[in-house]
Amino acid sequence: MCGIVGYIGEGSAKDMILTGLKSLEYRGYDSAGIALNKKGKILLRKESGVIANLEKKTGKPDFDGCVGIGHTRWATHGSPVRENAHPHLSADGRIAIVHNGIIENYLELKSWLKKNHGIVFKSDTDSETIAHLISVFYKGDLIEATGKAVAKMRGAYAIGVIAADEPDKIVAVRKDAPLIAGIGAGCNYLASDIPALLKYTRDIYLVENGEIVLITASEIKIYDEDMTRVKREVMHVTWDAAAAEKGGYEHFMKKEIYEQPEAIRETLERRLDEGGNIKLDGVTLTKKEWGRIDKVYIVACGTASHAGMQGKALIERFAGVPVEVELASEFRYRNPLVNDRTLFIGISQSGETLDTLEALREAKKRGARILSICNVVGSSVARESDDVLYTWAGPEIAVASTKAYTTQLVSLYLIALHMGRMRGFVAEDEYRRVIEELRALPEKAKATLKTEEHIRKLAERFYIKEQIFYIGRGQDVGTAYEASLKLKEVSYINSFAIAAGELKHGTIALIRKKTLFVVLATQDALYEKMLSNIEEVKARRAHVVSIAKKGNKRIAKVSDETIYIPQCADEIAPILAIIPMQILAYHIAKLRKRNIDKPRNLAKSVTVE
Ligand code: M6R
Repeated sequence: MCGIVGYIGEGSAKDMILTGLKSLEYRGYDSAGIALNKKGKILLRKESGVIANLEKKTGKPDFDGCVGIGHTRWATHGSPVRENAHPHLSADGRIAIVHNGIIENYLELKSWLKKNHGIVFKSDTDSETIAHLISVFYKGDLIEATGKAVAKMRGAYAIGVIAADEPDKIVAVRKDAPLIAGIGAGCNYLASDIPALLKYTRDIYLVENGEIVLITASEIKIYDEDMTRVKREVMHVTWDAAAAEKGGYEHFMKKEIYEQPEAIRETLERRLDEGGNIKLDGVTLTKKEWGRIDKVYIVACGTASHAGMQGKALIERFAGVPVEVELASEFRYRNPLVNDRTLFIGISQSGETLDTLEALREAKKRGARILSICNVVGSSVARESDDVLYTWAGPEIAVASTKAYTTQLVSLYLIALHMGRMRGFVAEDEYRRVIEELRALPEKAKATLKTEEHIRKLAERFYIKEQIFYIGRGQDVGTAYEASLKLKEVSYINSFAIAAGELKHGTIALIRKKTLFVVLATQDALYEKMLSNIEEVKARRAHVVSIAKKGNKRIAKVSDETIYIPQCADEIAPILAIIPMQILAYHIAKLRKRNIDKPRNLAKSVTVE
């Protein structure tokens, strides 16, 4: 996630950039840096850790100038150390860049740069490639060189560039990562997000995908991919600073729900190479070690444990290894059967949940190999694990987990498929089919967000309910559990999730006229059975809201309401099906006037037993 900032004018670029970067702290970061163009020379300072470390480094008055770019990095490629912090310089030190996003084909570009231009790389990042690439194409025109460089890149990016030889400009370019340009008086700005600029200007241009921007102290010119000048309306921001941090959304929960397509893309794309082969950075298990595993324990709490339920289905199906899913608070109190052939997968957004951490320690003592799925780089769970697969969801601020959950699911697909391949269990065509399904996910997640208006209207009818049931079969059971948790934690409604087949073994006694059932029916293989379950609860005069894949029309006939998600393979459906459920929980909580981002009695990170 991280952030970029740029300034060009007559004032102090350093001061503006430091202030801007601090305003982007909510995006999360672990290092920061600034590059300035001073009298035709690039000056660079960067430091790991908090921005105060960078402030110390840039403290002397000789480090300043009137044009510069800055960055807060949240480690992705390479650890959070100074060398990997941005800005990155070209080999001759005359081009500096900052970059948010991922360059998917960076390995290919890196070897091209090494082979043809003898470039020696100084960092482990994908971003450094950009500086070298622009430098290779640079013939005195920065915008032209940047255009040529991005034409070679694939991935997602918001990039800011300065060149020693052109001290009167900043060039920026965007694809699938946020970028804005701010209009000042005698100066202009660049940033990832509005909060970075609020102290300086409220007049901004929103840069669109594929556009390249030339910023000088007196003007901002936006061009499309063909270098045709684009006319853009100025947007005048009326939000206050707190609203701006939420990107204009009323709550972090909603913002984070809407960030899911991008978070899924980030978590996924950087793990797939050109040929669609999975590469699990941070996971060092060899083929032989994957082959030795005879049991997997997935251990986590709350939402993360629901991701674990899906992980069990995926690993058993694609890798053929038996999986137990355990709540971390139970694991170490029941003498678990763990040995050196056990793979322990700990899932934790924060990486600080005490129960998960203690379970991990217990499994480690018993000889298990520890692989964690974490969102926070350098967290305790990450540090104490043998291998870590990071979710690149960016900081999750709302207590209710949304984008962390969907990216945990993406990580579990990757682990399951990779493990299956290493063990020779998953058939090649099956592997390829699921990879293609995964690749289509960010767009399908975007399409699923369009259900919001329909769901908001449903919430207006149902927010007064004091009890809601969620049912499903197969992988929909895990989704039902997660949907129910989401609703109860933000709305305080007593909700209950159960495998649909279990209803008749007791819970059915609770059904009365108009009892609300949310029915998850996204599994084609179990569709008929779910239709029978709907009939079963309807016969007892329950009210039914179903979630199904587009095209399944019969369900609409037997349900009172149907919410459709895009067509997808059964295994993929949990990632899409949870999105309308998050939206439903959000709108019900809003109508009940709950403290959505900080529900009562809850904390974001549970560091007590
Ligand atoms: O940080 P963790 O993923 O370890 O947190 C585990 C649970 O506390 C967490 O998933 C919690 O259930 C969610 N905030 C609920 O939305």
